[in-house]
Amino acid sequence: MQREASMSDIHDAVREKYGAIAAAVKESSSGKTGCCGPSACGCGDPITSNLYSDAETSGLPADAVAASLGCGNPTALLALEPGQTVLDLGSGGGIDVLLSAQRVGPTGKAYGLDMTDEMLALARENQQKAGASNVEFLKGTIEHIPLPDSSVDVIISNCVINLSSDKDAVLREAFRVLKPGGRFAVSDVIVRGDVPADVRRSMELWVGCIAGALEETEYATKLRAAGFTDVEVEPWRIYSIDDARGFLAESGIDVDRMAPQVEGRIASAFVRARKSEARSCCGPDCCA
Ligand SMILES: C[S@@+](CC[C@H](N)C(=O)[O-])C[C@H]1O[C@@H](n2cnc3c(N)ncnc32)[C@H](O)[C@@H]1O
Repeated sequence: MQREASMSDIHDAVREKYGAIAAAVKESSSGKTGCCGPSACGCGDPITSNLYSDAETSGLPADAVAASLGCGNPTALLALEPGQTVLDLGSGGGIDVLLSAQRVGPTGKAYGLDMTDEMLALARENQQKAGASNVEFLKGTIEHIPLPDSSVDVIISNCVINLSSDKDAVLREAFRVLKPGGRFAVSDVIVRGDVPADVRRSMELWVGCIAGALEETEYATKLRAAGFTDVEVEPWRIYSIDDARGFLAESGIDVDRMAPQVEGRIASAFVRARKSEARSCCGPDCCA
């Protein structure tokens, strides 16, 4: 009898996949082997490539750029101010943490949170190479963020929330650790509208979603349920069947039959939201 994957099964699968990718990035930088493959190392694949400007990547360690596995550039979604505290959920090799650290400056702080030891080791090496003293990589899961309430100005994340089997917990935790007025600026893979379950699963395997991408209106609904306001989900890179053709054909899928159900339905999106400022207590009624 088939049983549903538990959160711990999914965490194990994610750790195994991203641990192997971190090891491959390190091997390749030591000249031992090449690093290329679906959703690994951004070797021209349509999801992870061309996300950052040359000006951004030229100031970063090569391994931080090589380990970039995102599907957008969350640091470009908003203005970061000197002195702010930023948290990157699922920080991988650390590219978005290092970019954020440059922008919040020495009086600010950029945290990366990841549960995969090999990725944390790679990120810490990249931090050292970058000489970034206002950065800290934390070990933990995005479903239980190891930071106090109201301690972060901005939450970023790049192609990670789709990997979680408990998105409600992730969004609740994000809301908890944000300060009042804090912002959520995330890049993620989403599904647009109804897609048959088998077609959806095939596309998600191509994109690298382990637990499943959220449908765009569902994403907005979950953010509001977690307490966020000013919610926006903006698809910006919409994938075509041709992007996935090679992968799907290799998996024995009839790509032409699937095409009409997929075109325009899987996208990378920018997801923005805000935690409202705390309401001031103005009288006997409003604090009751
Ligand atoms: C697709 S990679 C993205 C890495 C990075 N954000 C980037 O743009 O390069 C996903 C990363 O999230 C981490 N991750 C996935 N699920 C996680 C979870 N539930 N808790 C903590 N880290 C997680 C993985 O270990 C991996 O490093």
